[in-house]
Amino acid sequence: MKISVLGATGAMGGYVIKAALQEGYAIENKVSSKDDIANLFEDTDAIIDFSCPIATESMLRYVIENTKDVPLIIGTTGLSKMHIELMKKCASIVPVFSAPNMSFLIAIINMAVYAMAKLLDEDYDVEILDVHHKLKKDAPSGTARMFGKTVAKARGRKFDEVANFVRYGIIEQRKRGEIGFAVQRCSNVIGSHEVSFMGEFENIKIKHEAHSKEIFAKGAVQAAKWILTQPKGFYTMNDFTKDLMVPMVKSLYKDFFTRRLDSE
Ligand SMILES: NC(=O)c1ccc[n+]([C@@H]2O[C@H](COP(=O)([O-])OP(=O)(O)OC[C@H]3O[C@@H](n4cnc5c(N)ncnc54)[C@H](OP(=O)(O)O)[C@@H]3O)[C@@H](O)[C@H]2O)c1
Repeated sequence: MKISVLGATGAMGGYVIKAALQEGYAIENKVSSKDDIANLFEDTDAIIDFSCPIATESMLRYVIENTKDVPLIIGTTGLSKMHIELMKKCASIVPVFSAPNMSFLIAIINMAVYAMAKLLDEDYDVEILDVHHKLKKDAPSGTARMFGKTVAKARGRKFDEVANFVRYGIIEQRKRGEIGFAVQRCSNVIGSHEVSFMGEFENIKIKHEAHSKEIFAKGAVQAAKWILTQPKGFYTMNDFTKDLMVPMVKSLYKDFFTRRLDSE
């Protein structure tokens, strides 16, 4: 497989190149801020993008304007509704995979968050904390927002109506169902996320800590391999993990509930 990388000179771009070479793939084009976006599309099987929103927008517009049939794997975060609309337009031409977090463990945790939000009612206050290095440009992180959207979806709520991103000065009392976000930007933290379900008498906290950006690059390369088997359309991490995870979870809980007491 031949891969093009948008954001090739960046931290993530470097790890993507390393991960792709380890898989035996060729790096066909490396594009960053000084290059023509058209170079991305030369003789390649898939494009992996870890850049910035403005570069992602250029790539998406190029696909739409030139009907370029190259699958896109988009890891860039801080994207707006405008980007989502552009991605949907591209998805009528090519397979488009977008994930604010390409870690497989984060995908598993996202499923756990969904289950918790389904099992626990809104008596449990949900708070989401993300901690990242001081150079990160967007806040809260795309992953924190993804967890918030998962909770809102599980509870049948509209995310924009229950998300609270700002608490400063004299603030209103917490509303039932509110999802609070807190952000820390410090030092060289790769990425840490914590989703808390805070009840009156007990709490549950689900936490993930990334130790290396390599996990995201490896996930993106795996997604590139997978997306080549998919028709045009818009895909997220859920689609990627669904086939693998759903049968696994079903069999896991079958064993859990049928286990006999004397075998424990
Ligand atoms: N989805 C995930 O799992 C995941 C994980 C980690 C990070 N991310 C996201 O990935 C993105 C990149 O992160 P990073 O740490 O690699 O950032 P970075 O080190 O700052 O790299 C940014 C890259 O984007 C390029 N770029 C900037 N402006 C451009 C433009 N106008 N046109 C083309 N290329 C441009 C830069 O090129 P120059 O060197 O020429 O400026 C550089 O190669 C961020 O949005 C980050 O939040 C996502």
